[in-house]
Amino acid sequence: MRVRFLAPLCAVALLLVGEMAAAQSLPGPDNRPAPGNEVPALTPREAGYRPQVNYQLECSGCHHVDGEGSRANDVPRMKDFVGHFLDVEGGRAFLVQVPGVSLSSFTDAQLADLLNWMLTSDIAGDSTPVDFVPYTASEVATLRAEPLERIDVRRNVLLERMRAKRIAIRDGLGDRP
Ligand code: HEC
Repeated sequence: MRVRFLAPLCAVALLLVGEMAAAQSLPGPDNRPAPGNEVPALTPREAGYRPQVNYQLECSGCHHVDGEGSRANDVPRMKDFVGHFLDVEGGRAFLVQVPGVSLSSFTDAQLADLLNWMLTSDIAGDSTPVDFVPYTASEVATLRAEPLERIDVRRNVLLERMRAKRIAIRDGLGDRP
């Protein structure tokens, strides 16, 4: 007989304890940031980091720090390859218009700096043409405003143009067209 009362009582007690724990984990009016955290963190855009840090913050999650990319996730390799887009017509615009770049949080000037750094760093390696003219903020602004439709189709056209110039497609995506 007692057991029949005890079971529901225990359930109610457990529920109450759960509610209290949940309530305690919510910030209350008296909660204060931990020492050193009083000022909200700046976003990467606000912080004004150098391009390499911006790359690590908003690009390396997919592309990896060295630009190696990830076959398993269909992220192309940029390492020793990405600069070849500048060898073909339409490639310069494409590098700004891919969503990872155009939709990033950065200003046009920060993006220009980021791309210029990437294309002259170990990521692009020797793939960037020697006569590469750096991107400017206004160029990035113009290109960014033109959305890229059918990214895969556009990309394949550019890879075809590379093949026509006998550039080896080392984008790490293997036998994808
Ligand atoms: C969510 C994953 C992701 C993030 C974050 C990302 N990218 Fe990408 N990126 C891709 C994928 C996937 C492609 C292949 C084209 C496509 O599908 O967009 C690509 C393509 C590119 C390309 C063209 C090279 C090629 O072979 O297609 C460049 C350049 C590039 N990304 C640079 C960047 C930069 C710079 C950032 C950071 C500001 C960035 N990406 C952030 C996934 C990402």
